[in-house]
Amino acid sequence: MEYKDRRELPIGVFDSGVGGLTVVREIMRQIPNEKIVYFGDTARVPYGSKSKDTVTRYSRQIVRFLQTQQVKAIVVACNTASAYALDELEKEIDIPIIGVVKPGAKVATEATRNGRIGVIGTAGTVGSGIYTTYIQQIRPEVEVIGKACPLFVPLVEEGLWQDPVTDEIAMRYLSELIDIGIDTLILGCTHYPLIRSTVGKIMGEHVTLVNPAYETARELKELLMEQELFNPMPPSLGTNKYRFFVSDGAQRFMQFANSIIKYGILSAKVINIEEY
Ligand code: DGL
Repeated sequence: MEYKDRRELPIGVFDSGVGGLTVVREIMRQIPNEKIVYFGDTARVPYGSKSKDTVTRYSRQIVRFLQTQQVKAIVVACNTASAYALDELEKEIDIPIIGVVKPGAKVATEATRNGRIGVIGTAGTVGSGIYTTYIQQIRPEVEVIGKACPLFVPLVEEGLWQDPVTDEIAMRYLSELIDIGIDTLILGCTHYPLIRSTVGKIMGEHVTLVNPAYETARELKELLMEQELFNPMPPSLGTNKYRFFVSDGAQRFMQFANSIIKYGILSAKVINIEEY
């Protein structure tokens, strides 16, 4: 299919599963004219406990799939994949690609007053030290304290967004960061914006929470403008504006998706990602 205008092409967004929908939600809010093709790797989730090689291989396959959908840009809406694979992917494709780590790191660096930033995420993201690298590229004197919070992902997926069990676990994870006296905390995993109020309650009002999903959508908008890829017009009526693909469990995916996106996701198609 030939497009007259590249600006009308969709944005490709991917994640290890459902979490990247927090990024999709922000893109829908901030740049509502854009079409989106989303892929959630629900068959191979979680990425957070897998090796860099595996996550990079998975990410490559997904990028190849998204390119078959004629996307004009790609958003790696997964912190772990951004941490492990973005540098490689950037070298391999000729359309713009952004991850969620850099935008979050940039805003946190601007927000901190006492120079102490906390980062919570998967074991992979925190272990990679990627947030520290980006933050210290901008302000080398800033101290970055990482804390892996692996139980948050299943708690969010079980819908326990506001629940005493989540409060208890969050308290255990976060007390160390409170003791250190951070004043800024990056929600460095796709799922964490959904438990923002729990985290905020525990950290207290004086700690600024940074949501990379929000910052990524902002950065995507700027990038599209700069590269003259920003779609100025809403897609014509009847266009399939938002399309969702998964590698397994379409029904469960849709249930979760509809609990966080108020758009009404009617279908998700299962594809065999190993073919790409
Ligand atoms: N999407 C992942 C991330 O943001 C969390 C879930 C997983 O471990 O795959 O790091």
